[in-house]
Amino acid sequence: MRCQITRLTAGYGRVEVLRGVSLEIDAGEIVALVGPNGAGKSTLLRAITAMIPDRSGSVLLDGQELIGGTVESIADAGVAHVPEGRRLFPGLTVRDNLRLGGWRIRRKNLDEVLEFFPRLAERLDQVAGSMSGGEQQMCAIARGLMSRPRLLLIDELSLGLAPVIVDEILVRLSDVAATGTAVLLVEQDAGAALEIAHRGYVLELGQITVSGTASQLTSNPRMQAAYLGTPG
Ligand SMILES: Nc1ncnc2c1ncn2[C@@H]1O[C@H](COP(=O)(O)OP(=O)(O)O)[C@@H](O)[C@H]1O
Ligand SMILES: [Mg+2]
Repeated sequence: MRCQITRLTAGYGRVEVLRGVSLEIDAGEIVALVGPNGAGKSTLLRAITAMIPDRSGSVLLDGQELIGGTVESIADAGVAHVPEGRRLFPGLTVRDNLRLGGWRIRRKNLDEVLEFFPRLAERLDQVAGSMSGGEQQMCAIARGLMSRPRLLLIDELSLGLAPVIVDEILVRLSDVAATGTAVLLVEQDAGAALEIAHRGYVLELGQITVSGTASQLTSNPRMQAAYLGTPG
C-alpha cells in the first residue's frame, strides 16, 4: 500500500490554506506531520477524507484517486480519521464506541483492537466520557482501527495528555504500524512524534518546507530551533 499525495490544494471558500502539498506514506510507515498552529495540518487531514469540499490535486491510495470521492467512499477505500479532540460519543460505552467504528464493515469483534490497547478491555462497559484523556485517545484510535484502515490519520494525538500516557500510546501506534497500517500522525510535540516516526514533514503556511527521515529531522538545526526545543 502506498498513499501518494500530489499538489494538494484545499481551503475554505476563497481562503486557500494548502498550497500544493505533496507527500507519501507507505504501508507500515509512521509519518509525522509537524508545524505551527494554523499551518494547515488539520486541513490536510480533512482534505484527504473529503470533510472539506474545496480541494484539488491528487490523493492516490494504491492508485485509487480519492479526490472527488465522498466521506463514505473514502472510508470504504480504507482511510480512517481520528480527529482533533477525539470526538467520541461520551455517553456511550467504550464497547459501543468501538462497534460504531466497525459498523461500515459490519465488524463486531473487538479482540484484535483490544490487543493494541489492553487498558480498554477492562473498560468496555464504562461510558467513554468518564475515562481519562489518554484512555479516550486510545478509544478514538481503536475506533478508527475497527474499520481495518490501510491509512490511519491522527490529529493532535498528545493534546492535553500527560507525557507518560503519550509515550504509551505512541508505542502502541508502532505496534499498529508494524501490522502494515500506514499512519499519518499530526503532532504538536515534534520530539515525541519523531521518536516513533520513520519519516516526517514540516508544514508551514500551507506548504511542505522540510522533509526527511526522523533522524535527519531531529538533527536538522532549523528543526531543533523551531520545533524541538533544547535537546534532552
Ligand atoms: N472551518 C474553517 N473555516 C475557515 N477557515 C478555517 C477553518 N478551519 C481552519 N481554518 C483556517 O485554516 C488555516 C489552517 O487551519 P488548520 O488546518 O486548523 O491548521 P493546523 O491544524 O495546522 O493548526 C488557519 O488559518 C485557520 O484559521
Ligand atoms: Mg489542527
